[in-house]
Amino acid sequence: MEFNAPAGPNLFDKARIVGKPTPRIEGPLKTTGTAPYAYERHDVVPDQAYGYIVGSAIAKGRILSMDSAQAQAAPGVLGIVTALGTPPVGKPATNNAPLFGGPDVAHYHQAIACVVAETFEQARAAAGLIRTRYERAGGRHDLEALVPGAPLAKGRDGRPDQRAIGDFAAAFAAAPVKLDATYHTSDESHAMMEPHATIAAWQGDRLTLWTSNQMIAWSKAAMAEVLAMDPAKIRLDSPYVGGGFGGKLFVRADAVLAALAARKVGRPVKVALQRPLMPNNTTHRPATIQRIRIGAEKDGRIVAIAHENWSGNIGGEDGENGSAQTARMYAAPNRLTANYTAQIDLPEGNAMRAPGEAPGHLALEVAIDELADRLGIDPIALRILNEPQSQVPGMPERRFSDRNLVRCLREGADRFDWARRQARPGQMRERQWLIGMGVAAGYRGGPATRSAARVRLDGKGGLVVETDMTDIGTGSYTIIAQTAAETMGVPLAAVSVVLGDSDHPVSSGSGGQWGAASATAGVYAACVSLRRKIGERLGFDGDAATFADGRIALGKRTLSLGDAGILSAEDSISFGPFKREYDVGTYAGHFAEVAVHAYTGETRIRRMLAVCDAGRILNPLSARSQVIGAMVMAAGAALMEELAVDKRFGFFVNHDLAGYEVPVHADIPHQECIFLDTLDPVISPLKAKGVGELGICGPGAAIANAVYNATGIRVRDYPLTLDKYL
Ligand code: MOS
Repeated sequence: MEFNAPAGPNLFDKARIVGKPTPRIEGPLKTTGTAPYAYERHDVVPDQAYGYIVGSAIAKGRILSMDSAQAQAAPGVLGIVTALGTPPVGKPATNNAPLFGGPDVAHYHQAIACVVAETFEQARAAAGLIRTRYERAGGRHDLEALVPGAPLAKGRDGRPDQRAIGDFAAAFAAAPVKLDATYHTSDESHAMMEPHATIAAWQGDRLTLWTSNQMIAWSKAAMAEVLAMDPAKIRLDSPYVGGGFGGKLFVRADAVLAALAARKVGRPVKVALQRPLMPNNTTHRPATIQRIRIGAEKDGRIVAIAHENWSGNIGGEDGENGSAQTARMYAAPNRLTANYTAQIDLPEGNAMRAPGEAPGHLALEVAIDELADRLGIDPIALRILNEPQSQVPGMPERRFSDRNLVRCLREGADRFDWARRQARPGQMRERQWLIGMGVAAGYRGGPATRSAARVRLDGKGGLVVETDMTDIGTGSYTIIAQTAAETMGVPLAAVSVVLGDSDHPVSSGSGGQWGAASATAGVYAACVSLRRKIGERLGFDGDAATFADGRIALGKRTLSLGDAGILSAEDSISFGPFKREYDVGTYAGHFAEVAVHAYTGETRIRRMLAVCDAGRILNPLSARSQVIGAMVMAAGAALMEELAVDKRFGFFVNHDLAGYEVPVHADIPHQECIFLDTLDPVISPLKAKGVGELGICGPGAAIANAVYNATGIRVRDYPLTLDKYL
């Protein structure tokens, strides 16, 4: 089905299942510990052996020798795959660093061996017996030092990632009120609960991977690429994913080494990346340095805005673009955005929840707060004054599909009791605590991509949905079941959803907050196709009939869905060229109240609120979970999360959950999330957009602005740890 109607009928306006708060259908499996995650799939194949990965002890250079004789002779050892014994497997197009093989070391904890044994403990003990000699090479590990020479990044079209509209320099110079501020954000780790894990088994020249992955089709192609295999001979299965956040968009060393090791020992091999390897072996969100200049009239109208962003990555490309959202925000006639990426010798940077926008808001939305302070204008009023109209600033050919940011801010101000905020900082105090309130706007793109599914009537009153879509803890199972139940007119309990199998039709996968919108639209398309097929079989017009309560109504005639017998249909959703005229985004007003200890500088969050505009909300229960989870992650970025770079040796020092601090329940006392009742006519037939990344775009800035409001001290270097306030 090609979706071509920017308006179209409100197909789901009378929905009884879509849009209703619905507990996750796989929730009981997860809460009882019986959902089989990749490493726990003991029954899929017999005789599983354990692999243990060894990471490089240097950040850059060459392996001179590896002596694994002692390890090989250790109890229970079945075989060892070493980098020196394996030609480089190469780098899939989606990855930024080599995964395995050959003598060259590109980053610390790059996988250099996998020891396979009968038990995990035997594999781990033997891994410690491998003797590796290296030749260390110097590297570039300090982003700050690389900024002056960093080249402009390449945009998606291959052209330099820079956009200039009007004359920024002249307008800024002439503006009566100016801001010029530079912000630093840190390298961050996804730190998902379930580590990257894979069981690999060969049947002749066919490979099956039971793994934990967000993007099945991408990863199947990547495995075919690195193993030089026919993709048709590879199957991935990833029905449950214990968190991804972008860290599982791509195949990592666990999948590659499980496959190589299984081939070597002639048995299925299971590998989980050890927790201490995760920050340096896998990917992270690169640190950024962002300079923002804003020129405004005294009445608050912004006349010039520039946002320049610097980051680094191991291959010198694909950095973290903090300036991404600025093209859509604030209606200044003179604009400049630029994105520079330096080559830096640290582990691979890659996508992490709202790549670009998450750290981008930590700069832009604080800069707006700083400007409001300078102008003596309320920060919400300043944002509303500079809200773009229906066109994307500087792009007259592009309209916003549906943008209700002003409503988000106004409704949030009401609910959060914004009127209580004192504009002058440092005015609210409760004994030793300074109290502050902050606000930020939030923007994140609302993409939808091609997505396919198959639906089948099982002849016994049940409906089965099959797609390679993943559920990374987001609630995909449930919104897919809701969509299918609604479209076919059956109760939710009649629908079974099977996800994550590469033998199923190719979906959008889970990434870039496109999953909910795309995958449900693909399931809808397959259901419409099934309705037509039922019509053909039973002799009626499937498009004209009403499907409800397990019955099909056509005028005065009714049939039972059971009369159709066993029948299946497959289809996909794709999007017509009309979409190019629109900018589809999601918006939020984010609010925070903090208390900062007057003597220690310790910051405690008191409450947070997000008012979100993301079209139809398919399942308010799981959507809320997505938003509040993302708000927690934003709080982490603002206050505590930081991979500490060892600038001499080029690695992340705090590479476990003891050293990499993430928020815990006690850090997040009260969160609220409200959805505006909006519909986006451009996104898909369901008019629903994703929210998984919107929730991390802005709350960190709201917290930072609240800390300023509490203390009168503006720290522009994240995380805002207490030492920076003393
Ligand atoms: Mo997202 S960072 O595209 O999983």
